[in-house]
Order: sequence, then C-alpha cells, then structure tokens
Amino acid sequence: MKQEFDQYIDDYRRHCDQALRLSGETSAYFAEYKAKKLSDWLKRKIPAKAQILDFGCGDGLMTQFVHNEFPNGQIYGVDPSPKSIEAAQKQCPGVMFSVNSEESMQLDFENHSLDLVFSAGVFHHIPFAHHDKYMAELARIVKPGGYIVLFELNPLNPFTVWTFKHTPIDRHAHMLRPQYTYRLMKQYGSTEVLFYCFYPKMFSWLRKTEPLLTKVPFGALYASLTQKRGR
Ligand SMILES: C[S@@+](CC[C@H](N)C(=O)[O-])C[C@H]1O[C@@H](n2cnc3c(N)ncnc32)[C@H](O)[C@@H]1O
Repeated sequence: MKQEFDQYIDDYRRHCDQALRLSGETSAYFAEYKAKKLSDWLKRKIPAKAQILDFGCGDGLMTQFVHNEFPNGQIYGVDPSPKSIEAAQKQCPGVMFSVNSEESMQLDFENHSLDLVFSAGVFHHIPFAHHDKYMAELARIVKPGGYIVLFELNPLNPFTVWTFKHTPIDRHAHMLRPQYTYRLMKQYGSTEVLFYCFYPKMFSWLRKTEPLLTKVPFGALYASLTQKRGR
C-alpha cells in the first residue's frame, strides 16, 4: 500500500516551515524545542542508557535532536512510510530506524523493553478508531515506571486551528482535544497534560513566562505524559 507520507518526504520540511510561518519559527526550531522539553521533564527520571522510541519519526529531525539530548541512550524510530525512514536513516545514522505496519498495528519490540516512547504530531494522522489499539501497543512495550509522551496540536488555540486548516499534509488529519488524549492515556498510568508555545517569535521576550502557563489550555501545542503504572 502506498504510504501517505511517501509523497511529501522530498518537500516535507518546506511544507512544515510554510505551515508554521505564523509563529515566525521553523519546524527545526519546534523539533529541537520538543526534544529539550523531553530532556527537561525526563532526563533525571530515566536511565542514562535509556531505550527510547520515536513512534512516527518521519524524516528523523526530532529523533536527531532527542539523540543529542540523550547521547548515551539507544534511540529507535519507526514510521510506516518507507521513504521517510530512508530520509531518517541519512539524517541520523546513530539511530535504529524501521518501517512499522499500519495493517497489523503491532510494533516489533518486546514487552516492557523501553524506558520512553514519544510521538510528535502523529496521532492526529491515525484514525480515531485505531487510537486505543496503538496506545495499548505503546503501553505494552514500555517498562512499568517508564514514560509515554504524545505531543499534539491544540485545537483550542485559534492560530493552531488556522494553521491546521491551511496545511496540505494535514488534509486527512483530525486534531485530538487535550481531554481526549488525557483519557486515552490515563488508563495506563498517572497522566498530565502540559501546554506550551504561547508566543510567536515577535513576542519571544515573553516566552520566559511559559513555565507558569503549562496548565492554561491555550498554548499552540500540548504534551500528554503518562508514567506507566507498576514498577
Ligand atoms: C506530521 S508527521 C510527524 C513526523 C515527526 N514525528 C515529526 O515530528 O516531524 C506525521 C508522521 O506520522 C506518521 N504516521 C502516520 N500513521 C502512522 C502510524 N499508524 N504509525 C506510525 N506513524 C504513523 C506519518 O508517516 C508521518 O511521518
């Protein structure tokens, strides 16, 4: 089956940068920003040699930033788009990439084998009817006490909604409301939703206030973090 993202990969970053132009930042800025957030939240909570998976890694740009943040970890990336995986392999040779099957919805990792699974901007490309199955699969491969983090677009932010509607790669996508994502994840452990990216570049001097705003549900993006139950 032809993968939707195979058609975008040659121009993927241009599409993303174009979509993000209202923010005044590039997609690389956001990829690095999210990798640094992961590091701020979890670096001291998972082992230095953590096993980490980027689920839906695309061209691997964020995977590379995560690799920089967790240099002693073993990083994996999966995506159903073979062309994206090819691009990711060129971008970050230190990461182990593979194609995952959308048909089986299964991931080729042992039960309880990973310290952290994260996924950025992926679930809104997965049909809602498949979310539970994928979440159960992510929870299966994470160790008890390990973490799952989903980064998603916030449909409560008008700029995000405008951007989403004008982005060709989001044509078949559907945003996830923060409450929905919270409920999806909380069955697997303690979960919190954090909002971020409140200010465009022209107001970047205000960004130092963002740590105070993580519970205000209007950031352009949000992350939902679950620490898997049990130890
Ligand atoms: C908007 S891109 C995000 C890519 C990357 N995470 C990033 O932050 O740049 C969405 C990605 O989700 C992937 N995707 C779609 N359905 C998926 C599935 N069932 N399993 C894993 N990845 C999927 C697409 O192939 C695409 O690479």
